[in-house]
Amino acid sequence: MQRRLWCALAILCCSVVCSFAAPDKPKDVDRKEKLVVILLDGFRWDYVDQQKDKESLPGFRLLHKEGVRAKWVNPIFPSLSYASWTTLSTGLYAENHNIIGNYFHDSYRKETFELFNRTLTSNQRWWQDVEPIWTTATRKGRKVGTFLWARSDIPVRGILPHQAQGFQLTKGATSLGANLDKTIKMIKSEGYDLVMVYNEHIDNKGHQFGPTSPELMIALQEVDAELYKFLKKLDDTDLDETVNVMIVSDHGMTSGTPHSGAEYVEIDDYLDMDDVSYVIDRAAVAAVAPLPGKADKVYKQLKQMRGVDVYRRDDIPDNYYYKNGRYVQEILVCAKHGFVISGADSPKQIPRDPSTPRPMIWGGLHGYDNTHPDMRTIFMAMGPSFKKHYQGEPIDLVDIYQIYAHVLDLEPQPHNGSWSRVRSYLTNSASFSKVLSWNPILMTLLILLRYFI
Ligand SMILES: *[C@@H]1O[C@H](CO)[C@@H](O)[C@H](O)[C@H]1NC(C)=O
Ligand SMILES: *[C@@H]1O[C@H](CO)[C@@H](O)[C@H](O)[C@H]1NC(C)=O
Ligand SMILES: [Zn+2]
Repeated sequence: MQRRLWCALAILCCSVVCSFAAPDKPKDVDRKEKLVVILLDGFRWDYVDQQKDKESLPGFRLLHKEGVRAKWVNPIFPSLSYASWTTLSTGLYAENHNIIGNYFHDSYRKETFELFNRTLTSNQRWWQDVEPIWTTATRKGRKVGTFLWARSDIPVRGILPHQAQGFQLTKGATSLGANLDKTIKMIKSEGYDLVMVYNEHIDNKGHQFGPTSPELMIALQEVDAELYKFLKKLDDTDLDETVNVMIVSDHGMTSGTPHSGAEYVEIDDYLDMDDVSYVIDRAAVAAVAPLPGKADKVYKQLKQMRGVDVYRRDDIPDNYYYKNGRYVQEILVCAKHGFVISGADSPKQIPRDPSTPRPMIWGGLHGYDNTHPDMRTIFMAMGPSFKKHYQGEPIDLVDIYQIYAHVLDLEPQPHNGSWSRVRSYLTNSASFSKVLSWNPILMTLLILLRYFI
């Protein structure tokens, strides 16, 4: 009896130990995995498959073969860059991180945020609500570098990554190649754990020429060539055994030319500019700040506008996860797909587009309702944390953040992602309690143990 009990206990102990070591690849504590995240702005979900020539895009094809990809990624609302970059770095919806677009205005402090104005985006106040992954990783003692990624160069609660370069307009794909070369060096010989690299070449060409243009296809090949070189170098230096690479993007792109059927509607044809303090942004989404006492009149007039949905703040759809944001204005005008809001020709319009030619025409644009297929974007990854040659179901943009935390073995900040949507992409996705409750060997032994004693 005594011996049987000890024997059973010994087997049980062994199996508990085994159950942590065996079913999932163990995380080697001495050799933490590293992560490179590449954010390719404006990469529509179907760009790679849209390319007919199967031999082209060797970089993306290598990723598909050696790693994972989601069928697509559902963007947030608004499907605009700064809001989405912040979602990518925090896993939060716009109303929770408060970077609610490329342009917004704090009516209380009378401060404005503008995409291309680094003086305005440098205002520390915009950035203190939430902690992005580069801050958490740095705080936890990881060595972090960023290239052109949002305003990662602004300290959050006094913390900056070891090397931080914030967003500034940088055209072409060559800066991507140069930054990826630096990334290899930083990981190989400078002890970096996380490097985040941003490039906007594909978004620029999409805006200028449209998502199905030959220019876009060339941009895709240029970016692919840099990616392929990078993946080859990782392989040549054996870094591929410890380095995970994630390719993410912020939103898709839809055609904007009148030739493709897009209709431009001028917002100031439906507004008395004397009734408003600002019209903020245009194209797919415009926020209108009426002067005191004018909201009803402005709303009524905007309801006459063609091709848009107009909302009072409280009536903005809940599932946009937008309306509770701190800088949301009283009226929101959302263009329906196929329509484009032309900004007002007034100093109250932020930003102000050139007055000629008017309306200003985009080859492509985004920011539309986040359920429109053209707004969908991509997620691909490869490395020791990810399965091989696996395509999974669509995920949401808010889901991506938790994957960085998982790969880097960090506790994530509170976020809006769902683990159930991403776990199938990972090689080591079982949590402690799951292993304990579902390991069949362990279960059998527990039953046997009961039988023995
Ligand atoms: C950025 O905004 C500041 C403050 O409003 C302004 O003085 C400056 O001229 C702007 N810079 C650019 C490049 O527009
Ligand atoms: C998103 O996450 C934040 C932080 O945990 C939370 O406060 C908020 O309620 C979440 N939003 C939704 C819709 O679950
Ligand atoms: Zn973007």
